[in-house]
Amino acid sequence: MSLKELPGLIDPHVHFRDPGGTHKEDFTTGSEAALAGGIVGIVDMPNNPEPTVSLEALQYKEQIARVKTLCDYGFHFGASPRDNTGEFEKVRDLVAGLKVYMNQTTGDLLIEDDRLIEKVFSVWPKDKPLLVHAEEGTCKRALEMARKTNRRLHICHISLASEIEMIKRAKQEGFPVTCEVTPHHLLLTNEDAVNLGPYGRMKPFLATRTDVEALWENLDSIDMIATDHAPHTKEEKESATPPFGVPGLETAFPLMYSKVVEGKLSLDDLVRLMFEGPKKVFSIKTDNNTFIEIDPDEEYVLTEKDLKTKCGWSAFMGWKLRGRIKRVTIRSSLVFENGQVLVKPGFGQPLSYR
Ligand code: DOR
Ligand code: ZN
Ligand code: ZN
Repeated sequence: MSLKELPGLIDPHVHFRDPGGTHKEDFTTGSEAALAGGIVGIVDMPNNPEPTVSLEALQYKEQIARVKTLCDYGFHFGASPRDNTGEFEKVRDLVAGLKVYMNQTTGDLLIEDDRLIEKVFSVWPKDKPLLVHAEEGTCKRALEMARKTNRRLHICHISLASEIEMIKRAKQEGFPVTCEVTPHHLLLTNEDAVNLGPYGRMKPFLATRTDVEALWENLDSIDMIATDHAPHTKEEKESATPPFGVPGLETAFPLMYSKVVEGKLSLDDLVRLMFEGPKKVFSIKTDNNTFIEIDPDEEYVLTEKDLKTKCGWSAFMGWKLRGRIKRVTIRSSLVFENGQVLVKPGFGQPLSYR
């Protein structure tokens, strides 16, 4: 068996649920899942039950993350529907970006008022990333608002042909827009959603085969893959009102590497999408002695024992995968080997931004 070395992967979009939702995930279990997936740095989203929309809430989350996390970590601040623009200057250097929720999803951060959106887009520093959850018509609105306020924009988890077309056009016009796609939106369709039931329910919803094909055809206009790792318990998923979201940290790399083996994606593109893209857009500093080693030849079937996430399930259970993560090294320390995490909570360091 000869192992293949690749850069440590970066996932700029996860929901670790800590504080407030630690029955679903916490900084320790979430970062174990990251290491098992070859991901050495994550950026956590602000839609906790007590959302990360003040300096105080951010500092509280940092304190928790510092003692519990196994991989390197950072945070996105949240824009609040109750206007927290007064906090922006205090937190700008402490976070990777600002997240603005322009559609309804998990949490309580939806902003629909155009005047507040304009204020948020204007006040958040122009040189820092501003991320939106903005689907279809809302994606169009977000792009228009970014043009009006003359600022860069990052569009999370695109899923539709119409969205990638809009983004491609804006890029061609030289507008500073970037976007991400999740493995589930690249690999599953609304037909899979029928079979998966609540386990295939997330925002944005799984789209049509035509949409999925459009994403693949326009991979050059996509800046990165992000998991949108959004764990919920099986009990919650099987309830009468299943919440939106699927986990993704352990599966993102092997799923995408399987597409490299199939010849649908080049290895260079995979590294661009899971390392260089997030590093560049979020100005994340990386370390030369941080890398992963994969077994390019072993084929395995995804089972529960491959998962470290507290939620204990995956929409990809039973899939045949290639590119198993064998070893992860962070800053010269071996932190993961053959399914075992080798470091203690608190090993992870805060990400720094250039
Ligand atoms: O499916 C989703 N789950 N989409 C989101 O936008 C939020 C996330 C969550 O926090 O559960
Ligand atoms: Zn979202
Ligand atoms: Zn998300």
